[in-house]
Amino acid sequence: MNLQNYPIGFFDSGVGGTSIWKEVFTLLPFENTVYLADSKHAPYGQKTKEEIVYLSRKNTELLLNLNAKLIVVACNTATTNAIQILRDEYPVPFIGIEPAIKPAGLITKTKKIGILATQGTLNSELFEKTSGKIDPEVRIIEKVGHGLVELVESGNLDSPEMHALLQSYIVPMLEEGIDALVLGCTHYPYLIPQIRAIVGNQIQIIDSGRAVAKQTKNILEKYRLLQTNLSIIPTHHLYSNSDTSILKNLIGVNSQTNILKKEF
Ligand code: DGL
Repeated sequence: MNLQNYPIGFFDSGVGGTSIWKEVFTLLPFENTVYLADSKHAPYGQKTKEEIVYLSRKNTELLLNLNAKLIVVACNTATTNAIQILRDEYPVPFIGIEPAIKPAGLITKTKKIGILATQGTLNSELFEKTSGKIDPEVRIIEKVGHGLVELVESGNLDSPEMHALLQSYIVPMLEEGIDALVLGCTHYPYLIPQIRAIVGNQIQIIDSGRAVAKQTKNILEKYRLLQTNLSIIPTHHLYSNSDTSILKNLIGVNSQTNILKKEF
């Protein structure tokens, strides 16, 4: 079989990585895809680096068994803790996602940017290295989004509990004078309406989804893996090892999209 027809693989600790999957699918509508939502082990953000590496290897091996030609690590926590190990150990290209603090550092006028991410991402060496590269005059105000991933995973996006948690994380950053807020977790783009209601229109909300989609296209082209047959009708297989109804609600169901329960 032509390698171009093989699917792009994605994994995340759960449903959040579909925010990246959607961006890739929008830019590359002729690609077949396979997605793993490891909701059974969510959240990754509170786990040790060793546990995150273990789960990332397990997801990668399953995606390789499903013939993934390239893997998008659709999780900031897994990327910042495990991507180098995955690149060293497995024979396919990997695309990672990191909090977009560099672009935020370039656009801020107040020289203060906020970042909402998991503990695992904010504690990682890769995040420390990336933060060290931005303008030293820019202050980064970090907040761990405790509880947000769990609420998204249980489908409670618009609950009073969600609003209260978001308020408690974001209002102190606004009081510090941020003018850009980086969403450093792939679950958070699903909360943009709720976040916008708190920050108003003066604050830029920045996520990395579109940049990841562009990078995916570039790397597929580089390795001659990009689907060039524009007459194919692609198929998408999304596997969850937990309740599949949350995935169905977030991405909708159509004849090309199969959302299935799988043990992993
Ligand atoms: N979507 C994951 C991320 O981007 C969530 C991590 C978690 O499960 O805590 O970091």
